[in-house]
Amino acid sequence: MLLVTIEGIDGSGKTTLHKALGPCLSDLDPVITCEPGSTWIGEAVRRAIREQSDPIAEALLFVADHAAHLREVVKPALAEGRLVISDRYIDSRLVYQQVTLDGIILDPLSWLRSVHNGWTIMPDLTILLAVPVSVALERTGRRESGEHFEQEPVLTRVYEYYMQLVEEDKARFLILDGTLPPEHILKVAAGAIRYRHSELKKGRSRKVSV
Ligand code: TMP
Repeated sequence: MLLVTIEGIDGSGKTTLHKALGPCLSDLDPVITCEPGSTWIGEAVRRAIREQSDPIAEALLFVADHAAHLREVVKPALAEGRLVISDRYIDSRLVYQQVTLDGIILDPLSWLRSVHNGWTIMPDLTILLAVPVSVALERTGRRESGEHFEQEPVLTRVYEYYMQLVEEDKARFLILDGTLPPEHILKVAAGAIRYRHSELKKGRSRKVSV
């Protein structure tokens, strides 16, 4: 019924928010899910990230993971009238793979959009956690994974591309300052989701753009 996605650069605090939203909104019985990794294809994606495989192969694995995620988790849950909250979703591809495919594919954004065209479901609400790249790097510096996306030039461009997506679709995005205390971010994010959920319950039809 309602599809909410959480987006942001690595180290933006989105996973912390995502984890906290489940218990906070438990009365709405949300389906808490994520990309990559909700299906077996997620394992292949993780491997592609670790091994820094070919950027096109990596992009298509992310897309394959999305297709399986939609089919196995998102669509059935929405069909049951559930609230779905996904940690990363289509926008992650539109921004990260725009960077990794630069110089490899002509106009990566158009290519990425066309790959999704006709079968994906766009989110009703996307909460974007915005943090300066320096803060994000400070946070991810403490992680052991050191994925190839977690580099300053990559994250700087990813951040810019997120902001371009916001410009194109302001009604869908809620931008929150990811440097604020987590409990404050949680309160605002949960409030926004509750509001959208109650609006739908009042009988307003769900906007699904494909
Ligand atoms: P995660 O840290 O949120 O689990 O995501 C793993 C990495 O994968 C992160 O650096 C962002 C990247 N990513 C993409 O490049 N494209 C995508 O479509 C998704 C979902 C994630």
